[in-house]
Amino acid sequence: MTNIGVSITGSGSAIPKLSLDNQQLSQIVETSDEWISSRTGITKRQLADTTESLCSLATQASLAALDQANITPKDIDLIILATSTPDDLFGTASQVQWELGAEKAVAFDMTAACSGFVFGLVTAAQFIRSGVYQNVLLIGADILSRWVDWEDRRTCVLFGDGAGAVVLQASESDRLLGFELRSNGSQNDCLNLPFQPQEKKIIEGVTVSQGTYQPIIMNGKEVYRFAVQKVPEVIEKALFKANISVDKIDWLLLHQANQRILDAVASRLNIPSEKVISNLQNYGNTSAASIPLALDEAVRKNQVKSGDIIAASGFGAGLTWGAVIFEWNGI
Ligand code: ACO
Repeated sequence: MTNIGVSITGSGSAIPKLSLDNQQLSQIVETSDEWISSRTGITKRQLADTTESLCSLATQASLAALDQANITPKDIDLIILATSTPDDLFGTASQVQWELGAEKAVAFDMTAACSGFVFGLVTAAQFIRSGVYQNVLLIGADILSRWVDWEDRRTCVLFGDGAGAVVLQASESDRLLGFELRSNGSQNDCLNLPFQPQEKKIIEGVTVSQGTYQPIIMNGKEVYRFAVQKVPEVIEKALFKANISVDKIDWLLLHQANQRILDAVASRLNIPSEKVISNLQNYGNTSAASIPLALDEAVRKNQVKSGDIIAASGFGAGLTWGAVIFEWNGI
């Protein structure tokens, strides 16, 4: 049997309607545009309004990606929705499948926080390489505004909402060149969105936990330290597996958490700033959406071109982190 390769042939994104700038945030918590932009690079973020859902954003991003890849929803075999903020805890991917009219596609959610898109890309590729599926739609989408503590200035200034999607297709030559994925649960408490249990006695001797999930809790300094140390390492490992040197990379596409993290990782890898894709200024940290959203903007601006080699890396809660090296094969 000949080897089956993977190509990434289309991207799309969806940006929610509401906009909240740093100045407006300073009316909610004790902060300033100066503090937020100098520490993070973020000047505004887009937030889902009450009419928008994870499903609607994910569907919109998917339609744009399918259009760019020049395939229809009926061609999709598999939909993976990377998210930590589903509309339904049982999963939102099936709703997206139905909205798209992707009749033959099987669909499921995948959770790996801000690493979700990179983990999803590698997962999607396995289904193609094994010959099981030919056309896979991968979506990264999150609405973290639902779970942020809007009274906590240490976290609420960082996040935004959005969705991005890519189409992966079987191809003769393999454009997914190398990857490395990692997890470390021992640092889980650095960044989490834990279930907050409340005891509920349902009958004598039977007490269960009921409750909800909020808010996001983060040790910013620890997460910063972790990202700056682990992300360059994991990119180097993925480059080694791809058998290419760092100077062959056209673009460094990191999870858009903080401009200082982007700068520090690029500097450790000796990648010049012109090769670093950054759009966090306008969106903040959109979790699983941030990489496909930044990719789609760069593709549509004609920055990223067919044949370009991209080193993408996601990192965040879990803790999880990973890198994937691929050649962009869309428009
Ligand atoms: N406005 C004004 N002051 C603030 C704000 C704010 N929004 N937030 C914190 N401060 C204050 C703190 O209270 C502290 O004051 P103190 O010295 O009087 O106690 C001071 O600013 C410094 O706070 P630090 O937390 O030390 O600030 P730091 O320079 O570390 O920057 C930041 C904080 C931006 C959060 C940084 O640590 C960071 O980017 N960490 C990485 C976070 C991240 O990327 N998380 C997402 C990972 S992805 C995922 O999976 C969700």
